[in-house]
Parts: sequence; C-alpha cells; structure tokens
Amino acid sequence: MIKISPSILSADILKLEEEVKLLDKNGADYIHIDIMDGHYVPNITFGPNIVNSIRKITTKILDVHLMIQPVNPYIDEFIEAGSDIISFHPEADANPQEIISKIHDAKIKAGIAIHPKIKISEIEYLLNKVQQVIVMTVTPGFGGQKFLQDQVDKIKHLDKIRKNSNYKYDIAVDGGVNNENAKICKANGADVLAVGSYLLSKNHNDYNEIINSLK
Ligand code: DX5
Ligand code: ZN
Repeated sequence: MIKISPSILSADILKLEEEVKLLDKNGADYIHIDIMDGHYVPNITFGPNIVNSIRKITTKILDVHLMIQPVNPYIDEFIEAGSDIISFHPEADANPQEIISKIHDAKIKAGIAIHPKIKISEIEYLLNKVQQVIVMTVTPGFGGQKFLQDQVDKIKHLDKIRKNSNYKYDIAVDGGVNNENAKICKANGADVLAVGSYLLSKNHNDYNEIINSLK
C-alpha cells in the first residue's frame, strides 16, 4: 500500500506538537519536513532543530526534504537531529555522491529530489545509490501550488528504470497531491505521497478518512 507523508509546511506552527501527534495517530506513515534556505528556493522554513524536536514526539519515519544549496555543510546536523530519510536536490551541491555516502555512513536512507526543470537523464547516475527518489510535481518553495501533470511521466520512467534493473528506490511524489491525482501517481508507480495543504487545511477529525482515501 502507498505510504502517506504529510508535510508539516502547511501546519499551524504554534500547534506543531499537536499536529504531529494527530498525524501520527491518524495513519501517517512518514512525517515530511521541508527545509528551505531562501537561496535554493525563495522561501525560508526550518533548520535541524525542528527535526530534533519532532524526533522526540513521534516514532514515525522522519522524511526530511532539503531544499538548500549547498547541502554538504549542513548534512551532519540533519543526520544528528534524527532524520530517517534525507532527500536533497543533486544540482544544489558540487558532490552529490559524497552527501549520499555521508547519509549512508550514518545508517539512514538517502534520497534525491527532482526539480521539475531537471531531467531524469541528469540524475540517472545516482539512481543505483539511493533509497528514495522524489518527483517534484510543483516548483519547490511553497505549499498549496497546483499539481504539474507533465511531471507524471517521470514517475512512470522511474518505475520502468527500476523494473529493468536491480535498483531499489521508492518513488515519492511531492507537490499539489490530492485525492484525484493520487490515483494517477499510484497507477504510474508511486510508493509515497507527500501531502501538504490538501490534508492540513482540513478539520482534524477528518485526517484519518483523508489519509485512508489517499491510500
Ligand atoms: C514544496 C514542498 C512540498 C509541499 C507540499 O516545495 O516540498 O513538500 O509542502 O505541499 P502541497 O501538498 O500543499 O503542495
Ligand atoms: Zn517536500
């Protein structure tokens, strides 16, 4: 079954503890934490301290999505903060392979995220090294944007590459996911859906139902 990774980008930050606990209780598989630096993307969110705080209140998989440039100077801090999966944008650092090695040395999972402007051919050399590939279906930077339908081919392509090789990555989809396009993502081979505004804008009492309907 597909895994749901709610993005706390859309959470009420003053109620973050309550939100994370509710997501945990209502069927979230992962907690997706968007780290933005105001440089790789035109928005600023959290640092490693937020990962560290969330680590203390849930045992769910912390799915950390770094939208920062460069990546290398900060990777140790995100590892030490208690991340379970760290994904980054390979074009944001001079040496993606070194970052993947550092993440693996810490015995956690490494992922790469594909900006809508980046082609699969540009990141293909990393596919045998990672455990997660995030297909971005919005331009990274903000929650609440419209799902980019033209990125669905990348999900399909990544699924095909995986089937024709011994590569073992999960395919995650991030950006504008709702109950309609979730079906398309699944049909094309997605394993994980990061979901922000579609879930977190809703009433808490509906979290369980919405998470189950996305699955
Ligand atoms: C966008 C972030 C996404 C975002 C998803 O840059 O990486 O994870 O939080 O939010 P929605 O689901 O609202 O697009
Ligand atoms: Zn994200």
